[in-house]
Amino acid sequence: MNRLLTYMSIFFAALILMGATITPSHADGAGEIKNRQLVMKALGAHMGAMGNILKGQGGNSGHLTLHASAIANLATLAQDAFPAGSGPEAGKTRALANIWESGSGFQKVLANFKVNADALAKAGQSDDKAAFGKAMGNLGKDSCGTCHKDYRMKEK
Ligand code: HEC
Repeated sequence: MNRLLTYMSIFFAALILMGATITPSHADGAGEIKNRQLVMKALGAHMGAMGNILKGQGGNSGHLTLHASAIANLATLAQDAFPAGSGPEAGKTRALANIWESGSGFQKVLANFKVNADALAKAGQSDDKAAFGKAMGNLGKDSCGTCHKDYRMKEK
């Protein structure tokens, strides 16, 4: 049994090493679209889970802080989820081309997203439910809502 475990660890270590050499350091545009959509899906899932908890429809209110810090991490990941070449020219995406046009204001909205997400994570560290609800509402409206309205296609 121990030997089997040893073989298995060697196998997985080899797999990781192979992956590290095969994976190009820069994925193509379609891969970047996929990455962005996965980060967004995760954001949607954490927001949804927090909504459920706040409505008393399941989950544990002690977990709000974990969802909030996950969102702060995802907002960091989102900063790198809009590389040049991952727009409509690269594949099926709802990201609008104006994201990559200078002067469209996108970079400001993206940077502000991290500020709002950090504010939520901070609110999650205290027991102030009202402050948490306020930070969540602000994030949803000022970041998720604003960005989707101005930089995301209405339909796929
Ligand atoms: C800075 C802009 C921006 C912010 C902020 C933002 N989004 Fe998005 N979101 C987008 C864009 C653009 C897409 C379309 C992605 C694509 O198709 O490539 C998207 C897509 C999505 C999707 C659909 C993902 C899929 O393809 O299945 C969900 C869900 C989502 N966002 C949730 C959120 C939530 C929740 C927040 C806030 C916590 C948020 N987003 C904040 C720009 C943003």
